Amino acid sequence: MRKPIMVGNWKMNTTSAEATALVTALKTELNEVTDVEIGVCPPFVYIQPVKQILQGSNIKTGAQNVYWESKGAFTGQVSPGMLKDIGCDYVLVGHSECRHVMGETDEVINKKIKVLLAAGLTPIFCVGEKLEQRQDNTTENVIRAQVEQGLNGVPKEKIKEIIVAYEPVWAIGTGKTATPEQAQEVHSFIRKLISLISNEETAQGMRIMYGGSVKPDNIKGLMAKDDIDGALVGGASLKADSFVKLVKYQ
Ligand code: 13P
Repeated sequence: MRKPIMVGNWKMNTTSAEATALVTALKTELNEVTDVEIGVCPPFVYIQPVKQILQGSNIKTGAQNVYWESKGAFTGQVSPGMLKDIGCDYVLVGHSECRHVMGETDEVINKKIKVLLAAGLTPIFCVGEKLEQRQDNTTENVIRAQVEQGLNGVPKEKIKEIIVAYEPVWAIGTGKTATPEQAQEVHSFIRKLISLISNEETAQGMRIMYGGSVKPDNIKGLMAKDDIDGALVGGASLKADSFVKLVKYQ
């Protein structure tokens, strides 16, 4: 059985006071939850204070991005070793905003996945099609290319350490969530791809999260689907009240 996982991606939001208030509330209200893996990905500058508050809690922390070199003259970048050093568990890779706003390529995403695995961090590898690609019926081709290129050259036995997040670009921040059926179709397709790239056992063990306008009122339907193992949550993770409801969806 795959353990359900709920991760909040705060994106470029919160002040330091808001970040600490939010995790303080989450720590208290989610203290008893053990059947769902929980994580938060604050902006880089708030990871350490957030981690400090979360000490002794079951809530993990992640970063929203990383650079693929280990050190040196790369102004403005953060290395996998630095994230490991401050105790991060996950790192988001290939988020749609990095792909489509910052121009991140599959090649760059692939490098990041490899260095994260080498550093012992868990990549949350995001994939997803744009609206016009869905309308043109090219969703599967787009997802296949993103998965294959992102995992190119990753040792087969390492693939099971990755978490995948399917985030259709048209559903992110738009209030238009994919229907559970639409999401399930792509999740099952991703699981098949993983089994071809690695093996069936890895594919069955891999967690595939859904992201895109996940809210307390649509989480249950999504989580009821066989291949949906969790959610990567933007807007609704910024309020303790709604993120707590998402974690306690059952
Ligand atoms: P929203 O939940 O705000 O649509 O964002 C989804 C997302 O991009 C999570 O990474």
